[in-house]
Amino acid sequence: MLSMKHKIAVLPGDGIGPEIVAEAVGVLESVAARFGHEFEYAYAAVGAAAIDECGDPYPAGTDRVCRESDAILFGAIGDPKYDNDPTAKVRPEQGLLRMRRALGLYANLRPVKLHAPLTDRSPLRREVVEGTDFVCVRELTGGIYFGERGLSADGLAAFDTCTYTRGEVERIVRMALELAMKRRRKLTVVDKANVLETSRLWRETARALAAEYPAVEVDYMFVDNAAMQLVTRPSVFDVVVTENMFGDILTDEASVIGGSLGMLPSASVGDGNALFEPIHGSYPQAAGRNIANPMATILSAAMMLEHLGLDSEGAAIREAVEKALEQGIVSEDLVKKGDKAYSTSGIGSYICSQIQNSHA
Ligand code: IPM
Ligand code: MN
Repeated sequence: MLSMKHKIAVLPGDGIGPEIVAEAVGVLESVAARFGHEFEYAYAAVGAAAIDECGDPYPAGTDRVCRESDAILFGAIGDPKYDNDPTAKVRPEQGLLRMRRALGLYANLRPVKLHAPLTDRSPLRREVVEGTDFVCVRELTGGIYFGERGLSADGLAAFDTCTYTRGEVERIVRMALELAMKRRRKLTVVDKANVLETSRLWRETARALAAEYPAVEVDYMFVDNAAMQLVTRPSVFDVVVTENMFGDILTDEASVIGGSLGMLPSASVGDGNALFEPIHGSYPQAAGRNIANPMATILSAAMMLEHLGLDSEGAAIREAVEKALEQGIVSEDLVKKGDKAYSTSGIGSYICSQIQNSHA
């Protein structure tokens, strides 16, 4: 077995971030033990935790740790004390946005796959959700998230602008087309081209690029329609590509298909660094209570290993998660009426033991 050493930046962040990341690191250690790898972890602060420490949600030291690592594992960001204060000058979320931008993480891959044992945990009917397996490719460093914004002097008006360049659209649509080539060769471009100029640029750019990929069936869908199709016919999607905010909203919606937001991992990639994070937020009400679902973060760690070329290692994590689901080892967001909910650390330990006890 080839032993590999990898340097991983670990950014636990806020709320439940530290607890779920601790479980994912535990799982990585089980993988290291079983496969004979060495992972070196460099911890760094981001979000409200970093504001408390040094007044900056994305400190220079954290940026350096990220750049020096082979991959970044990130928990969650956000603290209610800022949400309820519209005058706050620094916000934890700025840390995440600056990090994405600084590291050039322009693509956020969010796989939405129904885990068979969770079929009856979905609020949607079995026949609707069965077979759901798609990836949303969300543009991550452009659009309204990063456009000019402002508030008028009298505080009575505000604006946010959405801008995209052709180059920004091209690189993300190309990535989505390449991904579709490796999957079922279907791409849905989601926009609001009946209203927005940026969407028309997206559609025109996608049309031109699609011509280079005749094997991929490309269709175009308005975002409002896509929101509906996602919960009525989710299994028709293979790869979905869309701009930053549409992708943010649609993937939270899509997360309910599989029964819980706590199950969805993601990878944020660009030309250099790569960051792996659950799509959910910091769930402050659960912070410190050992009740949050660590699976999205653990599955993000699996995506991280696959990104590092460690496919069997990633698969070992996925198998262990599947085993936990089959055995009903789930947190309260997924528990069946009358059944016991497992703790964050209980789920992590079970997954670790599965990885260590099964032999390749
Ligand atoms: C996400 C989150 C972030 C986003 C927030 C925390 C800024 O909701 O990763 O989806 O909107 O991108
Ligand atoms: Mn979101």
